[in-house]
Amino acid sequence: MIFCPLPLRGEGTIGHVADQSGFQPYFEAIGFGRWSFIDLLFRSRSLEIDTAESLDAVAAVVDKAVSQHGTRPQHLLAVLRQIQKDCHYLPKQALQSVARRFSLPLARVVGVAEFYGFLHTQPRGEYDIYFSDCVIDVFHDSEALMQRLCHRLRLQPGAVRGDRRVSIDTTSCTGLCDQGPALLVNGWPVPRLTPTLMDAMADHIERRVPVTQWPAEWFLIEDHLCRHDLLLNTPWRPGTGLKNALRQGVGWLLEQLTASGLRGRGGAGFPTARKWQFCRETPGDHYVVCNADEGEPGTFKDRELLKHYADQVFEGMTLAAFVTGARLGFLYLRGEYECLLRPLQAALRQRRCLGLLGRNLCGLMDFHFDIEIVVGAGAYICGEESALLNSIEGLRPHPRNRPPYPVTCGLWNQPTVVNNVESFAAASLIAVHGGEWFAKVGTEKSKGTKLLSISGDCARPGIYEVPFGITVAEVLGLCGSGETLGVQVGGPAGTFVAPSDYQRRIAYEDLGTGGSFMVFGSHRDIIDIATRFAQFFAHESCGFCTPCRVGTSLQLRLMEKIRRGWATAGDIQELESLKQLLEASHCGLGHTAHNPVQHTLAHYPGHYQARLRDLDFSPGFDLDNELETARQLTGRFGDHLRQV
Ligand SMILES: Cc1cc2nc3c(=O)[nH]c(=O)nc-3n(C[C@H](O)[C@H](O)[C@H](O)COP(=O)(O)O)c2cc1C
Ligand code: SF4
Repeated sequence: MIFCPLPLRGEGTIGHVADQSGFQPYFEAIGFGRWSFIDLLFRSRSLEIDTAESLDAVAAVVDKAVSQHGTRPQHLLAVLRQIQKDCHYLPKQALQSVARRFSLPLARVVGVAEFYGFLHTQPRGEYDIYFSDCVIDVFHDSEALMQRLCHRLRLQPGAVRGDRRVSIDTTSCTGLCDQGPALLVNGWPVPRLTPTLMDAMADHIERRVPVTQWPAEWFLIEDHLCRHDLLLNTPWRPGTGLKNALRQGVGWLLEQLTASGLRGRGGAGFPTARKWQFCRETPGDHYVVCNADEGEPGTFKDRELLKHYADQVFEGMTLAAFVTGARLGFLYLRGEYECLLRPLQAALRQRRCLGLLGRNLCGLMDFHFDIEIVVGAGAYICGEESALLNSIEGLRPHPRNRPPYPVTCGLWNQPTVVNNVESFAAASLIAVHGGEWFAKVGTEKSKGTKLLSISGDCARPGIYEVPFGITVAEVLGLCGSGETLGVQVGGPAGTFVAPSDYQRRIAYEDLGTGGSFMVFGSHRDIIDIATRFAQFFAHESCGFCTPCRVGTSLQLRLMEKIRRGWATAGDIQELESLKQLLEASHCGLGHTAHNPVQHTLAHYPGHYQARLRDLDFSPGFDLDNELETARQLTGRFGDHLRQV
């Protein structure tokens, strides 16, 4: 099946409102052609011209965003995203106005605005383009394609063109590694890029064809659901699990979840029944949150679950609400998946119509639960559950101190269940078929199946639902890999598995994973792979704590030095010593940032050695040599120190 997420624009957009102003003929007459009134006002903003009209236009944009989304804390991100879309950046006056509307200090709004990759306080292009710099996309020529587009449009990567028509930059994995290389244009994903497509895109941009009128086939996201098992293949109807649970009670549902052995599919593998039970036992206003941030490079299984199994995911959230007593839930959707927002909202509306969401659920007088969707704005750290909660609360999304954990102190410091998309989808099936049915598949400690997002050098990239306990070799057989250098399981933070270890198993007791499975052919360069992962961590470090902020940058610099053949044995020692520094980090991102370096160093020491300029230890900085010029100039050769 094929899905076309084309953006809709028209009545209700600020361009439409502003073009009613009557200024358009005037601007056309003086030679601004088809530039809209609003474009001119925002271009004048970027030149710091404070005209009354431009201030009015900013106010109109903020009015529209606020009336569309609201002014509760969870709406802040949506309002900022909307303003960014309409103005192509976040003007200072807009941020001031937002701060007033939300009754927040300006510093807090600016702090949020400056955090996210897709929000900007300086003007961006009318066509704002981000190429995925995930290692898989890069190995499929995304850098050359970006250069080609930049060349055709006469701008540098990372820059905004002088006429503010277009800006081109990179972003971390866009969740399309099975059909990369990919980019986002004004938030809309374009997969399967080719040189011909780049030329055609440049032509459309130069001719100022709105993205809505670009060929629909450019936006087609193919489904690659290559292997179905328990989760993807079991027939399921909306409401069946929920009604079953309501009939048999909370105790029964928790028993079934315990018997199923379901563990969190986001990567950490915490038992789901225990999480829900702890949350239930903590007094307060409970919340349920679905983590659909899916930012781990090489992961895209939640994309397909949300596309085809959204109802099942929402039912899982409703079951969690039944257990905990929550009345409100949030689905946190990564900004890169904004194209899924409308279908997801439609699925929520449908459930409300069926009496499966909203007030008096399934006809019960005291069961009320509804779900809101919050869309992120390009920050990997928001996948970390406590950062995600801060993001929903309209705060800068730094990870919180743990403990306390979200189950006791989550959203607005209330007990909160946070689960991955796949965990909720599995729970809704367990509520129908029971725990034993689920636990029949898998290993002793890892029950059921796991969705793997397989990408890279293999014949059939896509999503494979495999039983826990399957070996890496068996997975490689399924996806049709040739000669391989190794496999990265669990994204950059996970484990690099060399061919000698291909009998290792996908299971929490061996290779735990959130689902990313990147295959690297034997022609790939291990140092290049590790450097790209180091770059990912340095870019995505939220900067909150020093060990990670500094450690990830130092790690990247050392890896670059090795990659370019400038390093010595001393640099390898320094690289190894960074592990200790990174382990002192505040959250999981910093704790795991050394993994790719550590694993590749362990498996491929020869590859590293071969890249060194000097096999002997030689310090990166030769103090004695550096001082020599100063000694010559001053005529002091150390004798004065001896006198002292
Ligand atoms: C840096 C970082 C990024 C994470 N990204 C995700 C993510 O994208 N999706 C996800 O479900 N869990 C992610 N997690 C794990 C979550 O913090 C949390 O453990 C998970 O959502 C809990 O759900 P589960 O029990 O169903 O796995 C991430 C953790 C860290 C440290
Ligand atoms: S470890 Fe990194 S990502 Fe986590 S809080 Fe520290 S700086 Fe932020």
